[in-house]
Amino acid sequence: MISEAMRERFDREVAKYPADQKQSAVMACLAIVQQAHGHVSADSERAVAEYLGMPPIAVHEVTTFYNMYNAQPVGRFKLNVCTNLPCQLRDGQTALEHLCRKLGIEEGGTTADGLFTVQKSECLGACADSPVMLVNDRQMCSFMNEARLDELVATLKAQAA
Ligand code: FES
Repeated sequence: MISEAMRERFDREVAKYPADQKQSAVMACLAIVQQAHGHVSADSERAVAEYLGMPPIAVHEVTTFYNMYNAQPVGRFKLNVCTNLPCQLRDGQTALEHLCRKLGIEEGGTTADGLFTVQKSECLGACADSPVMLVNDRQMCSFMNEARLDELVATLKAQAA
């Protein structure tokens, strides 16, 4: 579950905090787990909790609060579309529905070829650029009308080929 290499990385993260506050490294440790496994399983949450001396529920609260942590395996490209209220007022939901329709999946689903997962997301802090979305928790895409969504999907498919 937690390899020796991962544990060494955990140790480096924990070393950034005072000895009695190693729980502060929880997000970094979870990110390391996700980098290694692609998602953070319940077993991994328990392993991180044990390593940091935290109750497992406290780790679970972190993974369920931040949607950059994947509770289950996701596609190669995770597409998170903001559907919070300001974006709802400017086609956020329309963008989400267009993507799902185009890829033939329900919100939260993954395409059969394992390429795409589409999810809703909370506010990405770019409300004025709505519809906005995040690719793989890192790349922000703004003003995603249907033409731009189609273009993005084509680009990512080409990248994967
Ligand atoms: Fe969508 Fe803020 S509500 S970015």
